[in-house]
Amino acid sequence: MKLLVINGPNLNMLGIREKNLYGARDFSALCDFIRKTAEDLNVEVELYQSNHEGDLVDCIQSAYQRIDGIVINPGAYTHTSVALLDALKAVSIPACEVHLTDVNAREEFRKISYVRLACEKTFAGYGFDGYKMAMEYLVKR
Ligand code: DQA
Repeated sequence: MKLLVINGPNLNMLGIREKNLYGARDFSALCDFIRKTAEDLNVEVELYQSNHEGDLVDCIQSAYQRIDGIVINPGAYTHTSVALLDALKAVSIPACEVHLTDVNAREEFRKISYVRLACEKTFAGYGFDGYKMAMEYLVKR
């Protein structure tokens, strides 16, 4: 089984950006955590991060007929991107949405998620553990 974990804009700034919200651990710590989780679950994992919407669309398309499950934290594109929603629908790969913070407890605009419409589950507000929960869900499914 092969999973693809996608992180969107500004997630590469973890450890620097708004530490009160996102914590002090940096992006490489998140990548290590995801790789370790994959190892524990005995699955392969591919990681991708970009600040560019089109690149994220390309990455989702590249998963077609190659990847068994997608975990995606689209960052701010969560709340704006029909293109990411359409890409997830196009490839039709089981997907989970992850957010480090509880987006439903923040500003009103963060309650809207387009990608959610193409995701089987959302894990929000669990920090790094949300990625683990999403990966576990996709493996068990
Ligand atoms: C985020 C929440 C988004 O609203 C925000 O734009 C992010 C990170 C999260 O992981 O909590 O960049 O996706």
